[in-house]
Amino acid sequence: MKIVFFGTQPYDRESFDTLNSNGTYGFDIVYHHSHLTPDNAILARGADGVCIFVNDTANRETIGQLAAMGVKLIALRCAGFNNVDLKAAAECGIGVVRVPAYSPHAVAEHAVALLLALDRKVHRAYWRTRDGNFSLHGLLGFDLYGKTAGIVGTGRIARALIGILKGFGMEVLAYDIHPDEHYAREAGIAYVGLDELYRRADVISLHCPLTEQTRYMINSDTIALMKPGVVLLNTGRGQLIHTEALIEGLKQRRIGAAGLDVYEEEAGYFYEDTSDRIMGDDVLARLLSFNNVLVTSHQGFFTREALENIARTTLDNIRAFAAGGPLANEVRFGA
Ligand code: NAI
Repeated sequence: MKIVFFGTQPYDRESFDTLNSNGTYGFDIVYHHSHLTPDNAILARGADGVCIFVNDTANRETIGQLAAMGVKLIALRCAGFNNVDLKAAAECGIGVVRVPAYSPHAVAEHAVALLLALDRKVHRAYWRTRDGNFSLHGLLGFDLYGKTAGIVGTGRIARALIGILKGFGMEVLAYDIHPDEHYAREAGIAYVGLDELYRRADVISLHCPLTEQTRYMINSDTIALMKPGVVLLNTGRGQLIHTEALIEGLKQRRIGAAGLDVYEEEAGYFYEDTSDRIMGDDVLARLLSFNNVLVTSHQGFFTREALENIARTTLDNIRAFAAGGPLANEVRFGA
């Protein structure tokens, strides 16, 4: 099997090369730094499969080109698959596999890092004390103990997060289109409707996939329902939040703080060093100007454990495909 990787960074190559050369897999791998787009799909010529990440674009046009070159597999080395046109892939006979879970703890713990930093203003204290400023003015936080968290989506990452938040002594409200009452009883949380969650939560964290239903679920109408001062966390996907509405919510002080590991237009910036350039994205520039907003560049997954799991599961997925066996991690249109 020849697999062409798109959107790779040095750490991806290191983790895949280490495993691929251990005698179990031995695939012919070609790495590209650039993202997969309709313009550079040609780089996959001669490959049996492509391996892509969150900011690669496998839309109908790209998939049509891949199919014409004989590519048979799209192996996502991530959990989310909103960037793949599954219908087009099915029509072109291209299989799609993913890594459903590599470390839910990594993402959950990152959400907590954002929450604690924003609540206790650690990011501001860091700069202040380095400059000899030891004043506490503006650094007042609140106890998480006794506060209410509203968690949207109660899958793997959310459950890891809920375990941590319960440890802080928080009350947890949750919303999921498929509520799991057995889990709720065991975890000591309550499922509520989305409006109630927005109204009652002091901290809201998004852990549902990006779908037509969830796109821009955080918008001016839903922000208007939220408690003034709410902390909003997004480690899901950027388009869950309408960013301009968020900016308005921050300006009106309805949103007390926002921790964003994802951004709706992240593809041009995240994972790249753009510090030599003038920022062309005025919305991102405005977001970065708030001292109560923390932006990290989609790094929730980025732990040693997760990288190893990603490489292992992806190579296992490719091996299963090559063997023509059942694909445990296949993503099917309409499934
Ligand atoms: P999961 O599949 O275990 O759980 C997703 C949950 O969302 C399920 O319980 C599902 O029923 C629920 N859901 C689906 N549609 C919904 C809707 N319309 N409203 C409310 N809930 C809905 O997924 P997991 O592993 O917990 O990941 C969640 C999301 O986190 C992924 O879809 C991905 O977008 C994002 N992610 C972000 C990473 C990062 O590095 N920041 C890394 C991995 C995933």
